[in-house]
Amino acid sequence: MAGGRFSPALLVLLYHVLFGSSSFQPALVLDMAKILLNNYCFPENLVGMQEAIQQAINSGEILKIYDRKTLASVLTVGVQGALNDPRLTVSFEPNFVPVMPPALPSLPTEQLIRLVRNSVKLEVLKNNVGYLRIDQIIGEETATKLGPLLRDNVWNKVANTSSLIFDLRYSTAGELSGVPFIISYFSDPEPLIHIDTVFDRPSNTTKELWTMSSIMGERYGKQKDLIVLTSKRTMGAAEAVAYTLKHLKRANIVGERSAGGSVKVEKIRIGDSGFYITIPVARSVNPITGQSWEVSGVSPSVNINAKEAVANAQNLLAVRSAIPRAIQSVSDIIRQYYSFTDRVPAFLQHLESTDFFSVISEEDLANKLNNELQSVSEDPRLMIKLTQDHPSLHDMPKIPTAQEVGYIIDTLFKIEVMPGNVGYLRFDMMADIEVMRAIGPQLIKLVWSKLVNTDTMIIDMRYNTGGYSTAIPLLCTYFFDAEPLRHLYTVFDRSTTTMTEVMTLPQIQGQRYGSTKDIYILTSQMTGSAAEVFTRAMKDLNRAKVIGEPTIGGSLSSGTYQIGNSILYASIPNQVVLSAVTGKVWSVSGVEPHVAAQANDALSVAQRIIASRLLKQDKGK
Ligand SMILES: *[C@@H]1O[C@H](CO)[C@@H](O)[C@H](O)[C@H]1NC(C)=O
Ligand SMILES: *[C@@H]1O[C@H](CO)[C@@H](O)[C@H](O)[C@H]1NC(C)=O
Repeated sequence: MAGGRFSPALLVLLYHVLFGSSSFQPALVLDMAKILLNNYCFPENLVGMQEAIQQAINSGEILKIYDRKTLASVLTVGVQGALNDPRLTVSFEPNFVPVMPPALPSLPTEQLIRLVRNSVKLEVLKNNVGYLRIDQIIGEETATKLGPLLRDNVWNKVANTSSLIFDLRYSTAGELSGVPFIISYFSDPEPLIHIDTVFDRPSNTTKELWTMSSIMGERYGKQKDLIVLTSKRTMGAAEAVAYTLKHLKRANIVGERSAGGSVKVEKIRIGDSGFYITIPVARSVNPITGQSWEVSGVSPSVNINAKEAVANAQNLLAVRSAIPRAIQSVSDIIRQYYSFTDRVPAFLQHLESTDFFSVISEEDLANKLNNELQSVSEDPRLMIKLTQDHPSLHDMPKIPTAQEVGYIIDTLFKIEVMPGNVGYLRFDMMADIEVMRAIGPQLIKLVWSKLVNTDTMIIDMRYNTGGYSTAIPLLCTYFFDAEPLRHLYTVFDRSTTTMTEVMTLPQIQGQRYGSTKDIYILTSQMTGSAAEVFTRAMKDLNRAKVIGEPTIGGSLSSGTYQIGNSILYASIPNQVVLSAVTGKVWSVSGVEPHVAAQANDALSVAQRIIASRLLKQDKGK
């Protein structure tokens, strides 16, 4: 509705509606235009209107409408369309008697007190949550007059609560001049806050509303949680309160979109006809948004039937009251366990300065924490998860029974001896060392003995998303000689602050593949965790050629820690791996293959490479 000049297109529209279809007295139209010019709160939208009307009158193109009510509706459509403001209406009401609303301040104090008593309700709900319902926002003068009463019966009592539900669902009337009082109670004395700018067209004055440096009684301040309830009936000054608190990020709004009233609307008689025009004569502009609650209303943060708003607000307050503890707990966990100690101070600082105002559910909190941690760390392993079923914090691998062993080997391992005596070994999960020991003899018999005498081996890790890291040294050992023992990598564990050098094992069951035959490892973007560590170690020690896609990144162990006693869990990488070759920390990003290939093509690429090597060897002979 705001903005835009009285454009030629709108002029044409007004011209047709006003004059193309009416027998309205031209003088009356000019009167109406004058009223608009002197009273409409968007004068910038009226530029050129009067000239256009005059021109239309001169051209004399008039349709006759004799029914005045019909004429009034035609005019309403015209003026609303031309100015794009649904509040503008023209009516024909020859018997209209204007009613003046009673001026509150002029009422006797006794009556004022009764009025305030009837429109204010205060309770303390469980968990020391305050509930304050105000059905009429009183103006500046009344508020000043009733100061001590309000202080003793409302604000000082509210001040003792831990958080507040401020119910404006039934607030359908009120005065804008009372808004600064209310906002001030929910702000600090300093700095003063610019709340609203109100332009009044008839007086051509602009008034800024600010918070007040001194008010009677105790402030609620701006730290404690505040929720404002709205309904579709919430209107006028109450909307100004809700809109301001929302955009100051001082309150979350729960309920329905508010009515979308106006600062001030007047019904003005056109000349001395029986026609009236209803005009918004003042407008409000919020300094933060540059817009207003007028017409479009205040949209809630939690959109819910007004009837359910109190219960919802109580739940919301419970969620929000857990936020500080959750942040503290996440900070503690990171400080204690995160493997990259040099990054910890930046995390803690970032968490401290993060604004959690918009968090309205545990899911929100998890997402917010996740996004914030990711944005500082760029470490995809650092995660906050929300889960209803408690993840096992120390999941112990299950040792299979004798009957289960055959089944496990069957489902876990896929082997083949390909042409050229090339062994192919695929397994999709890294089993725990205890499990490996349990299935060892069978594994050697059913799987390993068929591959160990091949000339070249392809190890397919494309579908291996990881598992336990305990068996990595055992697995690696098969691809090295018994002497000397090889240093595979070093693990630094944050939770125990120990450094462990991981070595090949001196003794294993079965035959070794040895250190001289070629090995190719196939990877995909899914290759992760322990599978990635195996791949990286083999690459690091120059023992295998890696073909495929870069692996998922991250590798090695993350601990899962409960955040406070909530349903949120933090997954924190608590180990760092140092390369045995360079002594430097392994990158958190994935293993780069020697030969890049789509995961689907990796096997055939490996086979081609092996075939061409065999060809060269043959030629060499
Ligand atoms: C608010 O709490 C304070 C101290 O906790 C107490 O002295 C005061 O009387 C309480 N005020 C009201 C209105 O309950
Ligand atoms: C309204 O006031 C402004 C200055 O505050 C002035 O420039 C403008 O001409 C005035 N408009 C009318 C219609 O008096």
